[in-house]
Amino acid sequence: MNFVGKTAISTGAASGMGLLFAQNFAEFGGNVVMCDVNESVLDEKVKEINDKGNGKAIGVVCDVRDYVQVCNARDQAVEAFGSIDVMVNFAGGTARRMLNVGWEADFPDVPINVFDWGLDVNLKGPFYFAHAVLKQMREQNSGLIINIGSITGAEGDGRGMDYPTAKAGLMYGLTKSISQYGASHNIRCVCVSPGPVLTRSAMANMKTPMGRAAEPREIIDLILFIASEKGQFINGENIMIDGGRNAAGRNC
Ligand SMILES: NC(=O)c1ccc[n+]([C@@H]2O[C@H](COP(=O)([O-])OP(=O)(O)OC[C@H]3O[C@@H](n4cnc5c(N)ncnc54)[C@H](O)[C@@H]3O)[C@@H](O)[C@H]2O)c1
Repeated sequence: MNFVGKTAISTGAASGMGLLFAQNFAEFGGNVVMCDVNESVLDEKVKEINDKGNGKAIGVVCDVRDYVQVCNARDQAVEAFGSIDVMVNFAGGTARRMLNVGWEADFPDVPINVFDWGLDVNLKGPFYFAHAVLKQMREQNSGLIINIGSITGAEGDGRGMDYPTAKAGLMYGLTKSISQYGASHNIRCVCVSPGPVLTRSAMANMKTPMGRAAEPREIIDLILFIASEKGQFINGENIMIDGGRNAAGRNC
């Protein structure tokens, strides 16, 4: 694969799959704009990529819930590298876990602001980024937006309802809508929806018919393929990458 001369924005890029994607895209010669709220780790990871001397990286502190910060990330990408070829929305997670609220309380007993966070980061963030970067991609007459869904978007979760609600919005409504808008501007949109991924060890407890969770690398390889020359006809689709869990059901 070769991404020389291409630029990708990755959100949630200080950790997990957002980071791994940025590292891989740069390893294949591309430039990366790494967005996250965790400034210290972000700086460290940006430096590591630049020290390797392949593609260049810049870090932008960006809370995806804030449209002004999202537009700033877009502007910094264009100023640094001249185009936005790929935009991947990795920032996300279940609010109860991400905000350390725990899983004991019943859904209606969890304060609503917890779920506001989940809906905003997981759904509004990608919506904001779509609105911001499509302006640039329309001007370029090219681009690819990749949303990251989840098996939970298809299954639901009675305890953490923000997460499946938001992910289903990405997997079906937002991804299809962007691809419809983008068609006449040579812009594609694809959603990649993993089952359990070992960005943390607890994910090994989530069942799949294959008896294991995915290595983060397996998800990133699919994303790189979609972004590469070989993946150019993939558009408007939600692709599950879950070891067969969606086919088998959650109690597989
Ligand atoms: N790990 C899994 O098993 C799994 C399964 C299905 C889907 N996913 C999805 O994949 C994506 C990446 O997951 P991961 O496990 O690699 O993530 P992670 O938890 O390792 O990293 C998430 C990153 O997002 C950043 N972040 C949090 N709030 C933010 C905000 N408001 N603005 C910008 N950045 C913010 C965090 O600082 C962190 O660096 C998420 O959208 C997740 O929902 C993960």
